[in-house]
Amino acid sequence: STFHSFLQELPKCEHHMHLEGSLSPEVLFTLAKRNNITLPQDDDAFQSPETLLARYSRFTSLDDFLHYYYIGMSVLISESDFEDLAMDYFRHAAADGLAHAEVFFDPQAHIERGITYNTVLAGFSAARARAEKEFGITSELICCFLRHLPVPNCMSMFKDADVQASFKNGSVTGIGLDSSEKPFPPALFEEIYAGAKELGLRRTAHAGEEGPATFISDALDVLKVERIDHGIRLVEDEALLQKIAKDGTMLSVCPLSNKVLCCVKEISEVPIRKFLDAGVKFSINSDDPAYFGGYILDNYCAVHEAFNLSVAEWTSICRAGIEGSWCSQARKDEML
Ligand code: HPA
Ligand code: ZN
Repeated sequence: STFHSFLQELPKCEHHMHLEGSLSPEVLFTLAKRNNITLPQDDDAFQSPETLLARYSRFTSLDDFLHYYYIGMSVLISESDFEDLAMDYFRHAAADGLAHAEVFFDPQAHIERGITYNTVLAGFSAARARAEKEFGITSELICCFLRHLPVPNCMSMFKDADVQASFKNGSVTGIGLDSSEKPFPPALFEEIYAGAKELGLRRTAHAGEEGPATFISDALDVLKVERIDHGIRLVEDEALLQKIAKDGTMLSVCPLSNKVLCCVKEISEVPIRKFLDAGVKFSINSDDPAYFGGYILDNYCAVHEAFNLSVAEWTSICRAGIEGSWCSQARKDEML
């Protein structure tokens, strides 16, 4: 329809996408074979790319998804595996009319398997350079801490010389906090976030996806984050919602993810209308597109189907996305 091409052509920015979440079942099986990785034999989902994809349509929770997400990424070994993975994302993003991407990666999940941080970073950095040259898509990298791992493990990654070098030379722009949410409150990571602020890094954290609204206020007050990833449970605290609207804090909302992980029953339950009416800034994002059945434009289309937003509303969502990005002002001016 004409609205589809209107959404395709909007200057879209994505702020919540995990590069490891762009691993399709096809690529997963190809890399498992090439890299001699044995997939679980006791789970029928791993019989073929088709059975695995079918399993993805039956996720019951964040943790149910994460189980497959961490097995999936175990097939990534070489620098070129990481580059190819990110290029797969950037190619989809280019077709969807994406202008700018701020993407997460999960180094601890690779370091634990004996893959070095610099292998991962070099592959992703090569893809970022190609995406800008080949598609005109600019990007920033956000290094995530896995909240289900012991805090000392997270702290030792933060202090690692190669990680520190990537913070200081600008190849990584900011930090994030992801993985299993409910048992792992933001305050556990206070020292790491204070250290990141000291270095001048940008800061965000997943909060209020499955966890309570207090995780959103703790991320803001204790971790001093500048954005909130997901944040849909903000609707459970009206005073906090008003504060976030007043402060202009942006949420990175992921509609298809919320539905597939059973955080909502239908896309229409994602509080898009509530956020618009209350003046809460948000962007619309794909989270883990190969697992949740859609890239950025699919998320825009799903929101449009559920909420029938006006041209003016879509234009202001994209404008907020540009203004809330962590790129240079010059790049923002180009996109506006
Ligand atoms: N939530 C938490 N951790 C994640 C997600 C998510 O949506 N995607 C990848 N890791
Ligand atoms: Zn996420």
